[in-house]
Amino acid sequence: MIYVRRDPTSNRPAREPAQRKRPVSTRVELCKADQVAAGTALRVEAAGLTVAVFNVEGQFYVTDDACTHGPGSLSEGFIDGDVVECNFHNGQFDIKTGEIVSPPCMIPVKTYLAVVEGGAVFIDVD
Ligand code: FES
Repeated sequence: MIYVRRDPTSNRPAREPAQRKRPVSTRVELCKADQVAAGTALRVEAAGLTVAVFNVEGQFYVTDDACTHGPGSLSEGFIDGDVVECNFHNGQFDIKTGEIVSPPCMIPVKTYLAVVEGGAVFIDVD
């Protein structure tokens, strides 16, 4: 005997759940790598985002530019190694992970995977 699982609200056999589609991401160029010297950051507006592109010892990292605590701009903050200090209330974030290093920030800042290709810095956005 063969049992067919049925949708209790209809007489038709139940369908398997549709496979979830992965969001399609778009690669967005933020800037040329040589626009961001080591130990500095650049504020960039692209694809509806405002982000900070950091150069930490030749490696590029991207975070939201807006501090999660208030009106501070992380690209205008003080950079010490892989930590950025917000220019408004001096909260600190880990540039690589977005985690809080020092209050008053309570919420980590969003990070994006930076990709350098052909001398330009890109991120993938959904
Ligand atoms: S606005 Fe950045 S620490 Fe307050």
